[in-house]
Formats: sequence, structure tokens, C-alpha cells
Amino acid sequence: MSGSALSGLKQLAAKHISLRQAFNTDPGRASRFSTKACGITLDYSKNLIDDQSWQALQQLAAQSNINAVLQAMLAGDKINNTEQRTVWHTMLRKTDVQGLELDGEDIGAAIADCRARMTALVSQLHQGEYKGYSGKAITDLIWVGIGGSLLGPQMAVEALTPYHCSPVKLHFAGNIDGAVVSDVVKNLDPATTLVFVASKSFGTEETKQNALAVRQWFKDNGADAAAIARHFWATSSNIAAAAEFGIVEQNILPMWDWVGGRYSLWSAIGLPVALMIGNEHFAQLLKGAEAMDEHFINAPQAENMPLTLALLGIWYINGFGCQAQALLPYSHYLRLLPSYVQQLDMESNGKSVDINGQPLTDATAPVIWGDAGTNGQHAYHQLLHQSALAVPADFILPLKPAHSLTDHHQRLAAHCFAQTQALMQGKTLQEATDECLAAGMTAQQAAELAPHKVSPGNKPSNTLLLPELSPYYVGALIALYEHKVFCQGVIWRLNSFDQWGVELGKQLSGPIYQALSGSDASKLDSSTQALIAAFSQHK
Ligand code: F6P
Repeated sequence: MSGSALSGLKQLAAKHISLRQAFNTDPGRASRFSTKACGITLDYSKNLIDDQSWQALQQLAAQSNINAVLQAMLAGDKINNTEQRTVWHTMLRKTDVQGLELDGEDIGAAIADCRARMTALVSQLHQGEYKGYSGKAITDLIWVGIGGSLLGPQMAVEALTPYHCSPVKLHFAGNIDGAVVSDVVKNLDPATTLVFVASKSFGTEETKQNALAVRQWFKDNGADAAAIARHFWATSSNIAAAAEFGIVEQNILPMWDWVGGRYSLWSAIGLPVALMIGNEHFAQLLKGAEAMDEHFINAPQAENMPLTLALLGIWYINGFGCQAQALLPYSHYLRLLPSYVQQLDMESNGKSVDINGQPLTDATAPVIWGDAGTNGQHAYHQLLHQSALAVPADFILPLKPAHSLTDHHQRLAAHCFAQTQALMQGKTLQEATDECLAAGMTAQQAAELAPHKVSPGNKPSNTLLLPELSPYYVGALIALYEHKVFCQGVIWRLNSFDQWGVELGKQLSGPIYQALSGSDASKLDSSTQALIAAFSQHK
């Protein structure tokens, strides 16, 4: 999409829309601006849109290249042009992968083989058949990985807590902060612990260092090379590096260069999810995502849920200049979703050049943040309601609870809906004054307090309703956000599948690490030199 088409949104957005008035005058607004896909309902009626602006956004979508790029992606074209890679994570959740080929390779067979190996390993672990070096069954699994090799499984494992059925306990080790690995191994026994090193590149410093620390812990506890070989697994596309680390070939599950790290939950990176919820439920997670893929590929533009979310995001970023997007799951189990979508969205679309390397003139990805409701209502919702900042918010609520405290659930739902209503309608000065007077204040007291109680309203939100938090709907929800990010990337004409921006920090940390070990730091800037000196003094 051309920059001028996007900047045209600013003019459109300048036209004032009162949401309160729109709802008062149009009883059909909610049904007109709602859509359903894979059992998930999206109510987007509390957005700053009217028929004219929504039509204009639909027109922008029609003029953009979404369908062409989608077809190119599905055909296996290397749409990740800077890395010359196909983008095929959607193939990982296909029920039928038979005959799937890429560059003459039987990808279908490779996916099926990987699934079968995952299934077999999970079954062995569930049945206590995987024995450690001392002959005892495995009781704990440490998952070592970071970014896309951790956030997805961690979020999905948490989201599907009610489905946990594994006798093997799961521990994640991501950060290079030594506290993480130290804490993880503290109460574990290497003789009953399996270690999974999850790294597509097998070159990520955090993962390598944590894996080395865990291996050292095995050695310190008397494990020999054969014992370690029995207890260490990997999932990686860099088989040579995994082998060099000492992981035997039969313990390496594949990763492919056509799966981006932040899109890899559906591959062997999802093994912790399969372990915790069982193979059948993991298959349901894939099915939910596949259903959303089919919706995205086949649904007409006006009913297309990922596209709808994408257009609304673009409306606020490029029309209104919003820089943030809140993600507010009203579900304790979905509390890691914002962290997951942070990587998905910000690492995919936080770019400054287009697909051809030309500078982008329009803003792209928002800052994604949020946490589970109702916690946020007692923290940052104050800013959402009354500050001058405009932060569009997605509210997500599973309709059926996974517990028997039905009154709790009803109250949770009431708060979720009330927040979207409060953001939309606000509270006028007159209403605030009347409220003060009704509470017995004098006119003078009411006049003083009422301005503080005013909420401007007209703050946009989406509400997503999931029938329940089952593997199927969690799969569909994640795929929904993946495709939203895809649509936005195409409209902004950027490559959503590379992440060159993260490299500079990695490059610079090498010489600084050397300087912290005593090498010459005099060529570094004075601030960095002073920080190194302060750290070195405390060593
Ligand atoms: O540093 C960013 C990143 O490259 C992510 O894109 C990726 O998900 C993560 O690091 C982990 O990478 P790997 O799986 O290769 O260890």
C-alpha cells in the first residue's frame, strides 16, 4: 500500500465520531460490526468507525496485495526475501500433509515423521517408559530456549493448565540471568531429568550458556558422557551444531528454515505443550489453528477476522497516531498472551524499511502490552480511562470457565464488559455532577470534585469471545493474531519474517564481554567505559 493511501487515513480520522451517540442512534451497530470465525466472536462495534471510514478501510484492504502475498506464501515462494526463506508455519498445522513438497523435498513426510517422534516421546514420558541413566523413570523436563523457542510453549502450557495430565514436571530456562538455571536445577535430580535444548539456530548465546550450565550440573553430579547423551535432546535446524554440543542424532527433532522462531509453536517447539496436555489435545491445538488458517484464506474480506483486526490496528496507528495496543485477556490462564503477542507483533513488524529496503514513511507496529484482567483495573486502567493517550485495547474472554466458581466467572465477565462500556461511553461533567449531588454533596463540593470524575470516553476496544479455553480455541486465537500481523505487514509493505534489528545488540555484547574480562575498552564510548569500570570494581 502506498504511503499516500495510508496518510489519507489521517484526514478520515479527523472527522469526529461519538461512540456514545453512534450506539444511541443505531441499535444495529453491534451486530453490524461483529463477526464470527471458528467459534470465536469478535465485537468491533466499540471502535471509532462509521460506515464511511469502515468502507474506506475495506477499500484500502482491497487495494493492498494481501491475497497475492498470501498465495505466494502458501505456494512456498521465498517471501522472507532478506533471508531467502519460504514462510510455511501454516503447513505445520495441516491435518493432511501428504504430498507437500518444497524445492523437491518431501516436507509432508518430514512433518509427519516429526509429529510421530514427538508423539512417541510424549507417550514414553507419560507412561514412565523413558528411563534415565540410573534406570529410574524421568520425572522432570527442562526446556532450554529463548524468544520464539520459549514464549509460545510457555504461553500455551499456561493457557491450557486445566488440561495438564503429565506425570513429568516441566521447567523453562530462558534468560541468561544465572538465577534462572540455578533455580531450575535446585530441587531436581539429574538421574530423572530430561533436557531439551530448543534453538532453531543452535547459536543463541543465552540458550547455549544455559545448556552448558545444565550439562555441567549433570557432570558435577557424576553423570558421564553416555548418561548425558541419554538425557539431552534438541530441536534445531542446525543439526551440526547440536551434534557438536554432544546431542546424539536420534535425540534431535527437526526445525526447518521455513519456520520463523516466533511462528514455531506448531513444530517440535510445541513439545512442552504436547507433554503437558497430551498428544490428542496437542492435535486439537493444531486443528484450531488450521481452522483459523482456512477462515483467513477463504472468508470474504468483509467477514475476515484477522483482516478486520489488522485494519482496525492500521486505522489507529496510521490514522490516529496511536503508538500502543493493549491486550487484556480476562482469563488468568491467558496472562502470558500479551508477552507472546509482543514478540509476534513487534519482532515481525517493528521495522523501518520496506521489503525493498526503502525507508518507511508511515508508522508500523504498536507497542503491545497488557496482562490479565481484572488485575489491570487496579493498576493501569486509570490511564486507559482518563489520560490523553489513546490506547486501543483487545479484551478477550472465554465464555465457559474451567472451574466451578461460576459466580466468580460471572463477575469476571461483568468487569470485562463494563470496561469496554466505560471506555466507550465515558462519563460527562453533568453525569459526574449529578452523581456527586445524589451522594449528598453540596453544589460547591460537587463542582470541585466532578471534573476529576469525568471520563472522556470514545476510547476504542475490541471484544473477543472464546466459547472456552480449550486447545482448539487457543490454537485458533494464536493463528488469528499471526494472520493479523501478516496482513498489517503486507499493507505496510514490509518483511514480517526477518528480525535484523536484534543483531546489533548481540554484536556489541561480544567486545563488551571481552572488556568485562579485562581487554582494552578505551575505544568504547565514555558511558560504556564507565559502566564497564563500575561492573569490574564489583567483581
Ligand atoms: O534474537 C531474536 C531471535 O532470533 C528470535 O527471533 C528467536 O525466536 C530467538 O532469537 C531464538 O532463536 P533460536 O531459536 O535460534 O535460539
